[in-house]
Amino acid sequence: MAEFTNKNVIVTGGAKGIGRGLCLAFAREGARVLCADVDEPAGLQLEKDAADLAGLLRFQRADASQAADCEALVRRASQLWGGVDVVCNNVGIQPPDSYIPAHELREDQWDRILDVNLKSCFLMTKYCVPVMKQRGGGVIINTASVQGLQAAKGVAAYAASKGGLLSLTRQLALEYAADHIRVLAVNPGTIDTPLVDEFVAALGMDKAQVAEALAKIHPLGRIGRAADVAEVVLFLASDKASFMTGENVCVDGGMMAKGAWASS
Ligand SMILES: NC(=O)c1ccc[n+]([C@@H]2O[C@H](COP(=O)([O-])OP(=O)(O)OC[C@H]3O[C@@H](n4cnc5c(N)ncnc54)[C@H](O)[C@@H]3O)[C@@H](O)[C@H]2O)c1
Repeated sequence: MAEFTNKNVIVTGGAKGIGRGLCLAFAREGARVLCADVDEPAGLQLEKDAADLAGLLRFQRADASQAADCEALVRRASQLWGGVDVVCNNVGIQPPDSYIPAHELREDQWDRILDVNLKSCFLMTKYCVPVMKQRGGGVIINTASVQGLQAAKGVAAYAASKGGLLSLTRQLALEYAADHIRVLAVNPGTIDTPLVDEFVAALGMDKAQVAEALAKIHPLGRIGRAADVAEVVLFLASDKASFMTGENVCVDGGMMAKGAWASS
């Protein structure tokens, strides 16, 4: 039997990039996966791409920064499959036009980044915890970032959101440990996804050149793939990690092992 057979998983921001990798990995391992995303065509395509996997994958359009959408996700998983076992708060945005010094950032840019990257985790927690308690436990995995650990120029709101996510991870872990709900985070380094493509395109840079430069700042000599993150998340969500909670794990090719990585 596959590792996540009969487990119900929600992945926010699941239609593309790392989220897509998470959805496919859980479905491959037998889970029933509800992929939540604002990109409906990409979500429906993912449903088709996952059709032959051991588990089941359904798409629901949802803006993870909105309470009603988060509540509807938990309700749908409960109606379809009887509850929620794993929530991956994976959604995150880093709009290229926010890559500016903090004092130039508009208030609405700050609010949107914090709402999507951080408030979404609070909202999903708010609605999934009662359901997880009823089932006797669960796992919440947050996709944070190395930028929540160390500073780099031009990412004030993004870094604050990811630092907040790491703090919230510890907070929730403590709050719900007695309910057998484990809460963990992963910190990806640079991962080859549409987010990075968008960034490179918006800044008018050449993707191959950027990829080469980025590969060099990761000690393992390459940037990551969505599957690299997904394999770690599968482990954290599994019973193999049953004595882990409140912790964050870097999936960054060794980047955080270096000192002063963001010196420029
Ligand atoms: N790619 C990287 O190098 C990298 C590095 C560190 C951390 N991360 C984090 O990993 C996560 C995934 O990043 P990615 O690179 O796969 O991004 P991506 O942009 O490639 O994919 C993100 C997905 O989220 C969806 N989305 C955006 N806003 C949404 C909303 N409000 N509600 C629901 N869905 C929404 C998008 O449609 C897209 O499908 C993010 O939290 C990001 O901050 C990425």
